[in-house]
Amino acid sequence: MASLSHKDLLGIEQLSVDEINLILDTAEALREVSARAVKKVPTLRGKTVINLFFEPSTRTRSSFEVAEKRLSADILSFSIATSSVTKGETLLDTAHNLEAMAPDIIVIRHESAGAPHLLGRECRSSIINAGDGMHEHPTQALLDALTVRTVKGRLEGLKLSIIGDIAHSRVARSNTLLFHKMGAHVRVCGPPTLIPWEYHRLGAAITSNMNEAIDGADVIMMLRLQHERMNEALIPTTREYYNYYGLTRGKMRLAKKDAIVMHPGPMNRGVEIDSDVADAGYSVILNQVANGVATRMAVLYLLSGSSGLKMKKTSR
Ligand code: CP
Repeated sequence: MASLSHKDLLGIEQLSVDEINLILDTAEALREVSARAVKKVPTLRGKTVINLFFEPSTRTRSSFEVAEKRLSADILSFSIATSSVTKGETLLDTAHNLEAMAPDIIVIRHESAGAPHLLGRECRSSIINAGDGMHEHPTQALLDALTVRTVKGRLEGLKLSIIGDIAHSRVARSNTLLFHKMGAHVRVCGPPTLIPWEYHRLGAAITSNMNEAIDGADVIMMLRLQHERMNEALIPTTREYYNYYGLTRGKMRLAKKDAIVMHPGPMNRGVEIDSDVADAGYSVILNQVANGVATRMAVLYLLSGSSGLKMKKTSR
């Protein structure tokens, strides 16, 4: 396989195993660009990318911008606060007006699930989902998979535990879909009020017992509590949550000796993860961020109509 079959990247759900491998292989090849003295290739010269972020972002927005610049694209990062969205313009009207300027790719983050899918149907440009509500965050799952594959050499057969606020997490959904597709064993863990039962259907085992979730895990992925998406009290107190579901050095002893710890960010230290775990040698949290640039370069490259790359591979 040398190219993606869809115009857009809307979710992991739409990707085949071959397409996931193609994106990861391309990202691995493109990682080398960020190690050069001049961190730029002409691959997207003459292409225009618009970044449309309706929700706050540190990592996703900045790594898309870095990725686009490293590929030499012309970019426009649209600021919602100073746009006509504040005057009541709809998402679709905003998108149609931006499309009239002939972009090639639109990257969108939106609080509503399905917003990128709507743009995918209505727009000629390729649409990349940078997070839609509580639905999917496909480039996060892809960069997480690249990080795990780089450290462990494979995805198949690994035990991945995703722990925290599963209910409100698009990262949990996209990672469950991806790792299950790639033959890993996925466990999700959190308070019963924060785990939807549909995760069984997505291929994950469900537990509310943190020790059970960590036992024998190769990869532990911690998630923050998304208070901004909660309309009611779903946990008694943050202190109690930490006691049951905070990742500490003591709890890490239950995992495999060579287990790694991940977090998509933003982290709440002392709530879902202790600092001495987040900053330990087995933490790959900053590797995830670095791999985010290469992964987004790969997605932009493949959606621009280019086929798979054969470049010198570098280690993590
Ligand atoms: N992982 C992630 O989506 O982080 P941001 O919200 O900072 O983009």
